[in-house]
Amino acid sequence: MIEKKFGIIGKPLSHSLSPLLHNFWFKKYKILANYCLIEIEINEIEGIIKKIRNKELQGINVTVPYKQAVIPFLDLIKGEAKETLSVNTISLDEEGKVVGNNTDVYGLEHGFINKLNNISARTNTVLILGAGGVSSSVIYALLKKGIKKIFISNRTFKKAENIKKKFPFIEIIKWENIETEIKSMNIIINTTSLGLKNGSDFMQEFKITKSNLIYYDIIYNPEETIMIKKFKENGVKTFNGLEMFMYQGQKSFALWNNVNPKLDNDLKKIITSKLK
Ligand code: ATR
Repeated sequence: MIEKKFGIIGKPLSHSLSPLLHNFWFKKYKILANYCLIEIEINEIEGIIKKIRNKELQGINVTVPYKQAVIPFLDLIKGEAKETLSVNTISLDEEGKVVGNNTDVYGLEHGFINKLNNISARTNTVLILGAGGVSSSVIYALLKKGIKKIFISNRTFKKAENIKKKFPFIEIIKWENIETEIKSMNIIINTTSLGLKNGSDFMQEFKITKSNLIYYDIIYNPEETIMIKKFKENGVKTFNGLEMFMYQGQKSFALWNNVNPKLDNDLKKIITSKLK
């Protein structure tokens, strides 16, 4: 039997625990396959997609900063990838078409949004920090929950404007104003790469917030970003991106292998032990 090959493309990738996740499941479900890190430059995307087309690779995940950049090289995007124009899972279908899917929305719903039990969709205000590939998935998942008071802020204003073209009801906050604007928010969601292991971080202090603020960081490695630590110190309820990471992986795995893998305690223990 030939070993199937999977991987994740992005840059940087040193923080990624996707190989651990998928290789754990391959072993558990006795699938002869391997999943590895494929750190690439943007001009290498086309070559990687070719490898999917000629079956050298059976599937790839896509992460920062290529979730949108891969789209022009695909034959088809489906479902929530279409709604968000953000792709994190790629494979070849039976007709030989390279297909892009989005499992981030599913990950966000199961890993975070469905846990917000007492949230009032009507009155809650959410600020999304960042306007990269995953931000549109966040907006889409919030909308599915009925939350519509959504603000966005991004270092590069133009990218926030681009997201607004797709979701015209969201409001843009200037990056330099986030510290003041945060005071009126119920939920803050960090979708930037700020806080990622070995990367740069937020300079702001974010000391004054609503007492019932919820801070969600899409980052899962490190387990506690500096932002999570700072907010926790101020008594804010915080979540990291670990559950989202595991759920998006679960759905990618199911798409590729027709097996819905379990998020059991063994897996959670192994993943958590690898976090810094
Ligand atoms: P992806 O498409 O995979 O989400 P991305 O588009 O590079 O990746 O998104 C990364 C996000 O982190 C962007 O919102 C980016 O802001 P810019 O659009 O201004 O690049 C944000 N980001 C990365 N480094 C940052 C920094 N040093 N300060 C502020 N925001 C940063």
